[in-house]
This record gives sequence, C-alpha cells and structure tokens, in this order.
Amino acid sequence: MFGSLKPQPADKILALMGEYRADPRPDKIDLGVGVYKDATGHTPIMRAVKRAEKQLWDAETSKTYTGLAGDPAFNAAMASLVLGDAAAGDRISSVATPGGTGAVRQAFEFLRMASPPVRVFVSDPTWPNHLSILKHLGIEAVPYRYFDTETRGVDFDGMLADLAGARAGDAVLLHGCCHNPTGANLTLPQWVAVADLLDKTGATPLIDIAYQGFGDGLDEDAAGVRLIAARLPEVLIAASCSKNFGIYRERTGSLIALSSSADQGVTQGTLAYLNRQNYSFPPDHGARLVTMILADPGLRAEWETELEEIRRGMLRLREALAAELGRLSGSDRFGFLAAHRGMFSRLGATPAQVERLKAEHGIYMVGDSRLNIAGLNDATVPVLARAVLAVGI
Ligand code: LMR
Repeated sequence: MFGSLKPQPADKILALMGEYRADPRPDKIDLGVGVYKDATGHTPIMRAVKRAEKQLWDAETSKTYTGLAGDPAFNAAMASLVLGDAAAGDRISSVATPGGTGAVRQAFEFLRMASPPVRVFVSDPTWPNHLSILKHLGIEAVPYRYFDTETRGVDFDGMLADLAGARAGDAVLLHGCCHNPTGANLTLPQWVAVADLLDKTGATPLIDIAYQGFGDGLDEDAAGVRLIAARLPEVLIAASCSKNFGIYRERTGSLIALSSSADQGVTQGTLAYLNRQNYSFPPDHGARLVTMILADPGLRAEWETELEEIRRGMLRLREALAAELGRLSGSDRFGFLAAHRGMFSRLGATPAQVERLKAEHGIYMVGDSRLNIAGLNDATVPVLARAVLAVGI
C-alpha cells in the first residue's frame, strides 16, 4: 500500500535550511528561514521566557489535560494582545493551536465548514505554506495582486481591483503586519479601504499575524487587525507566538474568531471540535509561558523591552543595508529595504541571481529573493551589499 505513495514536493524554505547546514564554508550567511538571530547568529531564549520557565518548574504540579480549547487564561491573554479592546468579549471565540500554522490550518477548515465551496483570496506572493495547506485541503486559492516589483511596495490599486472579485462565502487572507515574504505593508488608510471593500463584498477576512512586535511596535502592528475587528461582523485571526516570544519549537498559537454574540456559542464549539478532530488538546507549555508573561507586570515589561531591542536591531540592520547598497551603487534604488518592516524583504532578484549568491558567495536566501534581515549583523551587511551588486541585482 505504501508503495503507491508519490513523493511530495519539498518545502522550499525547509529544504534551504538543510542545504545551509550541509554547506562546509565557514563564512556562509543564512538569510533563509524566518527565525530571529542575534549578532552572533544564535536564536536566544528570551529573558522573560527563561524566567517564566523557572517559575513554572516550581509552580506546576500536574501535566493533566487542559480544556480542548486550551487554557482559558491563554485565550483571553492572546485576544487582548492582538485585539486590544477592538471587539466586545461576547463576540470572541478562541482556541490555542500548535503554532501559527496550526491556527491557519484550523481557520481554513473552519471556513470550509462554514462555507463549503469557499475560495480563499491570497496575496501574490504569500507565505508558500498558505498555498500548500490550501492545496492539501482541496480549497481553491485565488491570488490577488499585492507586490509591485518596480517600487517593491504594495500595488494597492491592483490589490483592490482583484479583491473586488471576492464575494460573500469567500475569504480574504491578509497579513496582519510584516508581510511574508515581501516586507511591504498596508498603511492604516489602506486598511480602512480594505475594510470598506470587504464590507461591500461580504467576503470574510482571515488575518494571519505571525510577527506582532517585529514591525513598528506591538500596538502599531495590530492596528490593521483591530480596525478590521471593529468594522466587520465576522473575522478570523491566526496569531503566532513563535517569533515574538521566540518559542518556535514549543508550537504556540491562537485562532480567534469574531462573530455576532448570537453565533458565539456555536463558533466556539466549532473551534473546539476542530481541535478534537485534528490533535485533541493543544500543546500547553509555550501557551502557559505566554500567559505568565502577559499576566505578570514584571515579566511583561522584561519581554516588551527585549522585543523592542529585537525590533530596533532589525530596523538598524535594514537601514545599514540600504545605506551601504546606496553608497556602493551610487543610487537610491535599494531605499525600499529601509521602508519595509518585519523580518523579511523581497530583494527583487532573479532565481539565477539568488543561485549565484549561494554558489559564489555562500549567501542563502529563499529562491524568490526573500531575505531574512535578522540573519545579518554589522560585519555581514557590507559582505551582502557587495555580493548583491556583484551578481548584478
Ligand atoms: C518562514 O516563513 O520562514 C517561517 O514562517 C518559518 C516557516 O515555517 O516557514
């Protein structure tokens, strides 16, 4: 029976991780997978996480199951972190999920249950796993224009024109902040225009927010989500704690659904049902750390301080790279790097140029020329800048 299985396509981002690890060159540079790294190339455990883990080790007396939806305190803390006070409590349903990917997967399944022929509109480009999961579930993905390859900003007119084709029963997948893979983001007035359009068409927004705190700040990065939450009757939000708490392998995320208060009970029940069908109880360790950090003023202040250090460090690297490329090229055509936000920027290189960066310079980035800014440090910024120009980008 197993002999009938066909080989599955490798995930491009994960395949690149393997290639990088196998490369013996000591001066290789990893700008691939979206994992934060400090100046020494290490992905640290955040200070507040380490402290919370110590406290948890002392305080935790049982590993028995939590609820199907996860710990209610985690769900409430995440809803507050993401939504602020943008939605009344009786509209909110939520469950803990294994990472942001778990939330995305559950959201797609939820949409299919609510609207069986659902089409999901996705930005072109989007995180490749969005497309892969949709394909796996047999859900139609409809691309909408998003990235302007000339300006490396958002093609907003194209986006609105394409989203006008979505209708009630469809969903529109939006990146809450720090767009992956481009780094180009909507302004607040653009979020307002998207909300107006969704309101007019009746399509349901699904917002994937995996990098809250990595762009302009915790509240600033959630401004679009909050605006949509306040304006539209039904919204799905997939939130990840992997990056902003640095707990990648703990698999910690949250799926939030906003509905009318009349539909809240059945909405919450459907989310819990989906957890039971897919993995039963969600992982708890990371969720518990997040809850402790968000609830304890001291831990929270320490976490916010470190998150801000990380955010500012990435911004500084962006600015340094844009400046170095500007200096070496004698032009401002790389200014978009400083304007982008989050971990990623799409450089706009051809696949052949990306391949040359890897083969000739030991610099690894995803084939669509997405680079992880956090993979750089002060010493490698000029190395990358020289290599970028050497391969003719
Ligand atoms: C990325 O885009 O590199 C991250 O979200 C990691 C992943 O799972 O792909």
